[in-house]
Amino acid sequence: MNFFFMILLCFASQMLAYFMLPTTVALSLSSKTDKLALLALKEKLTNGVPDSLPSWNKSLHFCEWQGITCGRHHTRVSALRLENQTLGGTLGPSLGNLTFLTILKLRKVNLYGGIPKQVGCLKRLQVLYLDQNHLQGEIPIELSNCSNIKVINFALNGLITGRVPTWFGSMMQLTKLYLGANDLVGTIPSSLANFSSLQLLALPENHFEGSIPYSLGRLSSLTYLSLSSNNLSGEIPHSLYNLSNIQIFDLAGNKLFGGLPTNLNLAFPNLEVFYVGGNQISGIFPSSISNLTGLRNFDISENNFNAPIPLTLGRLNKLEWFGIGENNFGRIILMPQLSAIYASSNNFGGALPNLIGNFSTHLGLFYIDNNKIYGVIPERIEQLIGLIDLTIGYNFFEGTIPDSIGKLKNLGILGLDGNKLSGNIPIIIGNLTLLSELGLSNNKFEGSIPFTIRNCTQLQLLNFSSNRLSGHMPNQTFGYLKGLIFLYLNNNSLTGPIPSDFGNLKQLSHLNLSLNKLSGEIPKDLASCLELTKLELGRNFFHGAIPLFLGLSLRFLEILDLSENNFSSIIPSKLENLTFLNNLDLSFNKLYGEVPKGGVFSNVSSISLTGNKNLCGGIPQLQLPPCIKLPAKKHKKSLKKKLVIISVIGGFVISVITFIIVHFLTRKSKRLPSSPSLRNEKLRVTYGELHEATNGFSSSNLVGTGSFGSVYKGSLPNFHY
Ligand SMILES: *[C@@H]1O[C@H](CO)[C@@H](O)[C@H](O)[C@H]1NC(C)=O
Ligand SMILES: *[C@@H]1O[C@H](CO)[C@@H](O)[C@H](O)[C@H]1NC(C)=O
Ligand SMILES: *[C@@H]1O[C@H](CO)[C@@H](O)[C@H](O)[C@H]1NC(C)=O
Ligand SMILES: *[C@@H]1O[C@H](CO)[C@@H](O)[C@H](O)[C@H]1NC(C)=O
Ligand SMILES: *[C@@H]1O[C@H](CO)[C@@H](O)[C@H](O)[C@H]1NC(C)=O
Ligand SMILES: *[C@@H]1O[C@H](CO)[C@@H](O)[C@H](O)[C@H]1NC(C)=O
Ligand SMILES: *[C@@H]1O[C@H](CO)[C@@H](O)[C@H](O)[C@H]1NC(C)=O
Ligand SMILES: *[C@@H]1O[C@H](CO)[C@@H](O)[C@H](O)[C@H]1NC(C)=O
Ligand SMILES: *[C@@H]1O[C@H](CO)[C@@H](O)[C@H](O)[C@H]1NC(C)=O
Ligand SMILES: *[C@@H]1O[C@H](CO)[C@@H](O)[C@H](O)[C@H]1NC(C)=O
Ligand SMILES: *[C@@H]1O[C@H](CO)[C@@H](O)[C@H](O)[C@H]1NC(C)=O
Ligand SMILES: *[C@@H]1O[C@H](CO)[C@@H](O)[C@H](O)[C@H]1NC(C)=O
Repeated sequence: MNFFFMILLCFASQMLAYFMLPTTVALSLSSKTDKLALLALKEKLTNGVPDSLPSWNKSLHFCEWQGITCGRHHTRVSALRLENQTLGGTLGPSLGNLTFLTILKLRKVNLYGGIPKQVGCLKRLQVLYLDQNHLQGEIPIELSNCSNIKVINFALNGLITGRVPTWFGSMMQLTKLYLGANDLVGTIPSSLANFSSLQLLALPENHFEGSIPYSLGRLSSLTYLSLSSNNLSGEIPHSLYNLSNIQIFDLAGNKLFGGLPTNLNLAFPNLEVFYVGGNQISGIFPSSISNLTGLRNFDISENNFNAPIPLTLGRLNKLEWFGIGENNFGRIILMPQLSAIYASSNNFGGALPNLIGNFSTHLGLFYIDNNKIYGVIPERIEQLIGLIDLTIGYNFFEGTIPDSIGKLKNLGILGLDGNKLSGNIPIIIGNLTLLSELGLSNNKFEGSIPFTIRNCTQLQLLNFSSNRLSGHMPNQTFGYLKGLIFLYLNNNSLTGPIPSDFGNLKQLSHLNLSLNKLSGEIPKDLASCLELTKLELGRNFFHGAIPLFLGLSLRFLEILDLSENNFSSIIPSKLENLTFLNNLDLSFNKLYGEVPKGGVFSNVSSISLTGNKNLCGGIPQLQLPPCIKLPAKKHKKSLKKKLVIISVIGGFVISVITFIIVHFLTRKSKRLPSSPSLRNEKLRVTYGELHEATNGFSSSNLVGTGSFGSVYKGSLPNFHY
């Protein structure tokens, strides 16, 4: 059916094309075909929106319309190029009438729908770019009729499904095939090896599984191979090391295992980018890379490599990115010209001061967190003025933060968490106005929070938790940090009230102030923090009522911890209405009255109410005394007495018992959230930034292709709060 239809479909215009050259009649007829086809195409492309493609109008010849190029010897459309527009339509069947088309580029024009089978009518087509749209469905088999095609780019549509057609192998002229960032499944067909002219094969960010076909080693012209962020397994086939023209080699983020060959330098003499991070590859460091003088980016992080890293790497003077994080290397080596070092989690020892001086002002990204590096942060850190990310958390650093850090004006991430740093948080921090993440948690910082942080208006994450900070939280400070998403000041010795300008934090998702000496009431301004999902104020000296707005405004609350304060009020029944709330800790306050039964209160394991003497009602599992209705005013006194008696007899005995049990249980679980989940959230942002900062890790060609696994696993778009 399809087949027959297709021949009919292509036939009429093919006929015209065929007889075209000699006669002017046929010529004008066929060019009329093109005009009609273009107008029909426009209707679909623009989804009928009248103001789109304004130059495609009657007063201009269609060869002069935007994006159209006609052939030199005939007025037939030879190229159609539209890019970076919001056309928002579909690719109509009239495309098949543009039979002289050799170049079709509709990139990032918001195309929807499928790739029409009429594309198979375009026998002269050589270049087909439909990338960065929302195309969906399978790759049409009719495409196999485009036997002159040289470049196919369907990358970054997200929705193209099915398998890579085995008949792709019959397109003998194909030099570049981009199918990255789609929804393709199955194995990589070994018939791809028939593309003897193929120079670029990019299939990253799909769902390919199985092993990498051995036959791909026959693609002797290949310079660019990216299969990253799929589910490929097995060993890297040895045949791939026959690809002696390879410049970009990216297999990151799969499930590959085995080792790397010892003579990588001989196999890939032109290697510039080598990414195999985020697999299960083991063995010793591929020392032979130190002879690959063209190497720019190298990443083997998140594997099982071990020592030693050769000192001869210093010869690689083009190296910009060096990623060896999350392996088992024990010693860091220095390459002065590097612009990025990712060496987290490796058991590295040594003192930072001795390392710093050797780096250049180009160093932008410096990750050595989770190692065993010690010493002070030297004044000389100011030399590294190119630093964008400085992540040196979870080492053994001590001493104070030097004021010279204020000179690092480009810093976006400063991660010093989990060290033994002490002294005040320097006022100069306010000079780092580009900071988006500031992590000083789990150190020994003391003194008060400097009000100058209000100049860091780009902050999204501020973590000062688990230090020895004291004094009031500065007012007129946090309110300036309008982009703040995560604010952790817990486990310090802060005093005073919550400043009212917290109400400006419209993006705030996590607020943790627990384990301080804060007091006052919960300011009603917090009702403006509509995005709050976690609000933790436990173990302070707050008093007053549990405000009604918690249930009315903060509709996304998941965790609410008000435990161990002096709140004295009824429990507002509006809390029932918080549909996402799954952890409510009101224990050890002075709450009284009826416990609601709906919402979070319906699940005994989601709430903690112990240590409140005068609660009643609730679901039976709470074993609270029933509430006694007050029928009329005159009985008030006796009822009050009764309430007291019931509370004393019923409540007290039970509370004592449950107190003992629940107290210990809650103490334990309360500590869980902050540390590990924060690390993850932080990492997400961090790697996203990395990716951006390194321009997608790849040069011209593909769309955020290569890199080590983490970039893809937790990439920035997933950063929800
Ligand atoms: C395609 O060309 C054929 C033959 O000229 C014509 O009958 C048909 O209407 C055209 N379709 C469009 C959409 O232009
Ligand atoms: C047709 O498009 C051209 C180029 O955009 C424009 O100058 C011209 O005014 C348009 N004519 C009409 C009738 O819209
Ligand atoms: C489209 O956008 C990309 C990236 O933003 C840019 O590199 C390219 O030059 C743009 N193309 C046109 C024709 O403007
Ligand atoms: C390709 O076109 C030819 C005729 O031009 C036809 O015989 C063949 O069946 C077509 N193939 C497909 C897959 O449509
Ligand atoms: C690939 O090439 C082999 C032999 O060179 C041939 O037998 C096979 O049919 C080809 N496959 C495709 C899909 O063209
Ligand atoms: C890889 O496979 C696992 C298990 O089959 C699946 O859960 C996961 O989503 C797959 N990943 C990709 C990128 O397709
Ligand atoms: C790779 O090259 C070796 C020797 O040059 C050859 O024996 C082998 O067959 C080649 N493998 C492939 C898959 O081409
Ligand atoms: C690097 O090249 C030198 C000679 O240029 C050679 O002696 C050495 O063995 C090579 N190193 C590796 C690891 O291949
Ligand atoms: C910090 O900023 C202040 C005010 O803008 C400026 O006077 C001072 O020189 C800066 N300090 C550093 C170390 O850049
Ligand atoms: C903070 O910003 C204010 C203006 O918004 C400026 O006057 C002050 O110098 C800045 N402080 C620092 C330390 O940069
Ligand atoms: C800031 O807080 C201090 C004490 O905490 C208070 O005396 C002062 O009035 C507050 N300033 C403003 C503007 O709220
Ligand atoms: C939520 O509030 C509305 C109106 O205030 C009420 O009708 C509804 O029953 C409440 N839902 C729950 C689960 O309490």
